[in-house]
Amino acid sequence: ISLKPYNSFGLDKKARFFTAVESIDDLREALEFANRKKISVIILGGGSNILLTKDLEALVIKIDLKGIHVLEENDESLLVEVGAGEVWHEWVQYAIKNNWAGLENLSLIPGTVGASPMQNIGAYGVEVQDVFHSLKAFNRNTLSVEIFTAEQCEFGYRESVFKHKLKDQYVICSVTFKLSKEPIFQTEYGAIRETLKEMNVTETTIQAISEAVVKIRQSKLPDPKVIGNAGSFFKNPTVDFEVYEEIKKSYPSVPGYPQEQGIKIPAGWLIEQAGWKGFKKGQIGVHDKQALVLVNFGEGDGKEIAQLASEIQKSVQEKFGIQLTPEVNFL
Ligand code: EPU
Repeated sequence: ISLKPYNSFGLDKKARFFTAVESIDDLREALEFANRKKISVIILGGGSNILLTKDLEALVIKIDLKGIHVLEENDESLLVEVGAGEVWHEWVQYAIKNNWAGLENLSLIPGTVGASPMQNIGAYGVEVQDVFHSLKAFNRNTLSVEIFTAEQCEFGYRESVFKHKLKDQYVICSVTFKLSKEPIFQTEYGAIRETLKEMNVTETTIQAISEAVVKIRQSKLPDPKVIGNAGSFFKNPTVDFEVYEEIKKSYPSVPGYPQEQGIKIPAGWLIEQAGWKGFKKGQIGVHDKQALVLVNFGEGDGKEIAQLASEIQKSVQEKFGIQLTPEVNFL
């Protein structure tokens, strides 16, 4: 079947086998089927962080495990378990409607709940690890469910143990979030403060922050339903202070955010400086409002996007001596 409806780049690649699972039993059955057929398995959430470069000789399993359950609650906080197949932004909106704080800065991120800890999604000063309590994951070898604490997930910047040591070994089934009834607003990010001001917000609320984040994202990021894309294509690189100072000599206005081990430079800035912003070749290109986003205008091919990505890496490497690492997973 064509995977076009199942990846936000809108790439028309096929899967040898495809199934959507709504229960752990369905999932177990699907994995057993793949074992019998001796074919590999690819687990799919919202398909918003993948680049399909070819047809997949595999069983693609779309995770449709649903449900939102409050596990514990007191006056200050609560624990909520959410099915991996729930759509991320719908869950965020559900929490906000209930006045559960913590997720508002993560509004409008494409994808599913199950994918969120995988790469520790983040935006506007908040990462999933900040609201994470634990998750349940299905062990593909033992075919049983295990619980992971935050520590066991080994979260980092767009990283977790599931992208490394435990890659392809587990299927995330649900995530339990720790949310707050007394919000702590994260408005450090300049764009949020400016947008709240533009909106004439006098009293900050989680609803207002969510609205501001939605506005900012809509102004910069293309809607995958209209123009195929997978959000940020590369991670923002952290460079040594000396490298940053060297760049600053030629580009006094280079943005940089100090980290423990160096300075994080926005990859979007590097790509723009290398001349790629708004680049278009046939059906693919670089978004004109955010150079970190590669786009498919409709009939583009995954191979062409991979090719463009590598040309961008090469030119940023030549111009700045900085290696960009993709954030998107190539399949
Ligand atoms: N910039 C440019 N030109 C561009 C784009 C960005 O010069 O074309 C510079 C500007 O200085 C701008 C700065 O980069 O102020 C930061 O840009 P932006 O606020 O758009 O954020 P980002 O660093 O490019 C990261 C995340 C996004 C997240 C935003 C907001 C990564 C890889 N990306 O992008 O996450 O929404 O911050 O917090 O860390 C995603 O992961 O898919 C994603 C969209």
